[in-house]
Amino acid sequence: MRKNIWIDTDPGIDDAIAISAAFAAGERLKIIGISTVAGNQTIDIVTDNALWLTELLGQSEVPVVRGADRPLIRAPHPAGNVHGEHGLGYVVPPKAARTLTSDQGAAAIYKAVMELPEGETITLVPIGPLTNIALLLRTFPDVSARIDQIVCMGGSAVEGNITATAEYNIWTDPEAAEIVFQSGIPIVMCGLDVTMKCLLRQEEIRQLEHAGEIQKQFSRMLQFYFDSAAYRGKGAVAMHDSVPFLYLLREEMFSGEHHVIHVSCTEDTCRGMTIVCDGAYTYQQKGEPKNVYVLKDVDAAWFGRELMERLMCYS
Ligand code: BDR
Ligand code: CA
Repeated sequence: MRKNIWIDTDPGIDDAIAISAAFAAGERLKIIGISTVAGNQTIDIVTDNALWLTELLGQSEVPVVRGADRPLIRAPHPAGNVHGEHGLGYVVPPKAARTLTSDQGAAAIYKAVMELPEGETITLVPIGPLTNIALLLRTFPDVSARIDQIVCMGGSAVEGNITATAEYNIWTDPEAAEIVFQSGIPIVMCGLDVTMKCLLRQEEIRQLEHAGEIQKQFSRMLQFYFDSAAYRGKGAVAMHDSVPFLYLLREEMFSGEHHVIHVSCTEDTCRGMTIVCDGAYTYQQKGEPKNVYVLKDVDAAWFGRELMERLMCYS
């Protein structure tokens, strides 16, 4: 049985790799649509990237929806230092021939979910800041009944990657993340605890480079990471955004723990921290559901093999 999924994304190098892997798993995942959100780059850039990528992968019939152009409260904080000026490393995508859907924003996601055949549900897979998902849940609360789970990339129960305490996607829009984590919907948090173990090595990027035209584009995106200050001299890079999709393919390869998660929305060094609040905190309401499954570990060798196999599928 194929699982209906909706991808919310800010492509972004690892977003593009993850979306490509997800399309290559069409026997298990049915991608109903893709929405974009300001994050790694501006909303214009990430939306153009999503249109170009779906065209490159031969998936132009999948709707692409332009989402929020900024976080709920804060100004956007693009990550051009990690993803490049155009968001996709050394790839400068030409303008796509395909266009956006006529409906935009959270309303478009709502419509697509509610139009699913009766009895069907959807898994939301957000791999950028959670702005669109918070707007969706707050504006159209009845949508929750059609969402079976949210499997997101974001957060960390260990340390951060944008600040000492916070992971980039959550830090970019912590208010949105708090709304989503407090929605009561079952959530799988693919945070840095597990994503930092999910790697592609420099040798694998070289393999991609010589495999085919589409793989060459992947390698030109990924090489940018290795040349960036964050990864220079390292032999492997974390494929954060692929984790939710590979989790959906084989949950048994991962392990984790159920927790109550709150997001720090303060304006200090803890902003954007995902805090495990299972009872040790006085402000915690008794009986809050442990609706967040925090992934902790993975069969890392399987992850690398599976991701490469999916990326090699394209000819
Ligand atoms: C997350 O931040 C973004 O830069 C990546 O695309 C990923 O979603 C990792 O912290
Ligand atoms: Ca992302």
